[in-house]
Parts: sequence; structure tokens; C-alpha cells
Amino acid sequence: MDKIETNNPKIIVALDFADESPALELIERLDPKRCRLKVGKEMFTRYGPNFVEKLTKKGYDIFLDLKFHDIPNTVAGGCRSAAELGVWMVNVHALGGRKMMEAAREALDKSAVRPLLIGVTILTSMGQEDIEQVGLSGSPADNVRRLALLAEDAGLDGVVCSPKEVAMLRQTISHEFKLITPGIRPAWAEKGDQTRITTPADAVALGSDYLVIGRPVTAAADPLEALCRIEKELAG
Ligand code: C5P
Repeated sequence: MDKIETNNPKIIVALDFADESPALELIERLDPKRCRLKVGKEMFTRYGPNFVEKLTKKGYDIFLDLKFHDIPNTVAGGCRSAAELGVWMVNVHALGGRKMMEAAREALDKSAVRPLLIGVTILTSMGQEDIEQVGLSGSPADNVRRLALLAEDAGLDGVVCSPKEVAMLRQTISHEFKLITPGIRPAWAEKGDQTRITTPADAVALGSDYLVIGRPVTAAADPLEALCRIEKELAG
């Protein structure tokens, strides 16, 4: 198996498990030099900071995907706790507003090791009708663009977005602003419930910085081999 050693892996494996043991088994089969890990609400609510610590002790960078959305003081406190936990990336909803995002950034700026602070613009599960129902005007893309600019202006490091939004955002925001994209499927992987998908190589070619990939790796018979296949696609 060809191994592409990297200290800055682009692939973030989504640990979407109901139980801790398959997640811990999986991470023993992966390699922190080759991928980072995303821990979301399900596993964090069940297994908490101890679970995250188990992963960081194994050398993995953690994207704590809790999508904070609350008053500025509370979100700042959540971000501070995430920084103390030693996570690599944390996220907040841009719809929480400029003051909330600035409070989050200021809290992280004071931390010894500063996690990347990422915004969620419009959830990709929301279409035109959904955003109208919550009182937003314009198209989902208009709102994504506006909220990404607001997030950049508030000092965030990037946003999570659909691969289909990357090209548009790359024309709008600065080159350093990170774009993190789920909805990634290599040509050889099952689509599952994802519909608007992009291959890893296409997502990177469009300008994505980090790829959130779950089942193509976690459900593979050999997860490390699946990761290597994706790395080779990215390299070649
Ligand atoms: O298994 P799969 O590759 O589809 O997993 C994608 C991960 O990215 C999941 O954790 C999912 O919740 C997350 N995600 C997504 N689409 C979004 C935001 C997050 O698929 N718009």
C-alpha cells in the first residue's frame, strides 16, 4: 500500500457511531498522520470530553462539530471549554450574528492553543422554502455568501459549506479563509443518503481546504486502505 505521509491531512473522518467501541476500533485502524476526526453531537453528548481526550491522546486532531448558537457570553464559554479540551477545530452558527462570532473569536484568541473557529452558514439540508419559513429573503446561495462574508469579517477562520458552493465562495472571500466540505464521495463509494455529491479530487480542485468524509472510510472493509485510495486520488 502506498503511503502518503502528511502532517496536514485534508481528510476529516466523521465519527458517526452510536457506540464508543466501534469508533475506538476504527481509530486504531486509521492513522493520525493521514486524517483528522470529526466528533459531533451524538457521540459528544453520550461520551463527552473523556471520549475526545481518548482520541487526542492517540494523536488525532479533533473537529468538535457542536455548531454553537447562543448568546455571545455562552458561546464564548463553550469555545473556551473546547480550546481547553485541546480540539483542533470548533464551529458556531453564523446566524448567531456578528457579536456572537466575535465573542467566540475573542475567547479563543486568549487560549494557549487556539483551535480554528469555523462558521456554519445555511445548513445544506435547508432549501428555498425552509429559509423563507424562518424569515430569510434571497436564495440559499445568497445567504451562504452573505453569512460567509460576515463570518470572515468577524474574524472566523472559515466556513463549512457544500462543495457546490466552494467556487462561488472562493470568488467572494479571501484565499486564506478555510472552506470545509462534507458531501464527498469517491467514484467507487456508495452514495448512501447524500445526493449533491462531489469527488474528493473535484472538491479540492474547486478550492476546498478540508474534506469531511464519513462512510466511504468508516464503512469500508479496510478503512486505512480507503483513506489511501482517496489520498492517491488527491495526489494524482
Ligand atoms: O458518511 P458521510 O460522508 O455522508 O458523512 C458526512 C458527515 O458530514 C456527517 O457527519 C454529516 O452529518 C456531516 N454533514 C453533512 N452535510 C452537511 C453538514 C454536515 O453531510 N451539510
